[in-house]
Amino acid sequence: MKVSIIGAGNVGASCAEYIAISKIANEVVLLDIKEGLSEGKALDLTQTASTLGFDTVIKGVTNDYKTTKDSDVVVITSGIPRKPGMTREELIDINAGIVNTVTESILKFSPKAIIVVVSNPMDTMTYLALKSNRLDKKKVIGMGGALDSSRFKTYLSKALNKPQSDIHAMVIGGHGDTTMIPLTRLASYNGTPISTLLSKDKQDEIVSSTMIGGATLTKLLGTSAWYAPGASVCYLVDSILKNKKKIIPCSVYLDGQYGLNDICIGVPCIIGENGVEEIINLDLNLSEKNKLQESAKAIAIMNKSLKNFI
Ligand code: LAC
Repeated sequence: MKVSIIGAGNVGASCAEYIAISKIANEVVLLDIKEGLSEGKALDLTQTASTLGFDTVIKGVTNDYKTTKDSDVVVITSGIPRKPGMTREELIDINAGIVNTVTESILKFSPKAIIVVVSNPMDTMTYLALKSNRLDKKKVIGMGGALDSSRFKTYLSKALNKPQSDIHAMVIGGHGDTTMIPLTRLASYNGTPISTLLSKDKQDEIVSSTMIGGATLTKLLGTSAWYAPGASVCYLVDSILKNKKKIIPCSVYLDGQYGLNDICIGVPCIIGENGVEEIINLDLNLSEKNKLQESAKAIAIMNKSLKNFI
């Protein structure tokens, strides 16, 4: 199995590292436009193989898409990351041009690949990759919900003082500070609803922390986070390559599900060898449904600025 990662910045390199360590691919190609960056990171990572015990071949290339030929999965991390004080939405003009060019180049050499989109604003970039190339809607997956859910679980685990592996929770909606929807009503501590374990105020605090989870890290780090984004990508790629059929909240194209049309937005999906194997129809209450509609409206407004591309 072959995975190519476009963009060898912090997130791209982190994806390559986790995928190599997880031993889920035979080959990982790291591609960047900056001369030497991918080559350097690939060489550095390769030198961890004997110590960490993996045999994945890691190649680094400068803008050479030929090397990505016949990838099973391609991860797009290209584009500028946000700086402290910036929203993901502010990146749209620059990143749309980049993601558009990158997707075209990928498809020349790997027309059948499943594409995982990380670049921000993630829901809009997922929509762009899909629509500008008229791709099969099962094959383009935005990873935001996986990441936001992992942040939600972190905050829940801290509040409950229980291990994260015993927490089940997900975030749907957009991957934006105001558009994501952490589903507290459906979150559980191994079957016990968290609503019976935490006060309403505490739950609200966790929801707020989750929603600004990326911004909190950007403020601390001076740039966008990479460990959790890289791990979330790896989790998705693992479910694809090994056909695990895990339920993962992802940004996918909806045509009627949840009453939404012609939009990519986060909903729980079964992820397997064909990409999006199935979209799960959650039984949302009225307030959750309204939030999802609002979230979709905000994303649809952003999608309008893609008019030059689609
Ligand atoms: C974040 C970026 C990857 O949320 O969107 O950290």
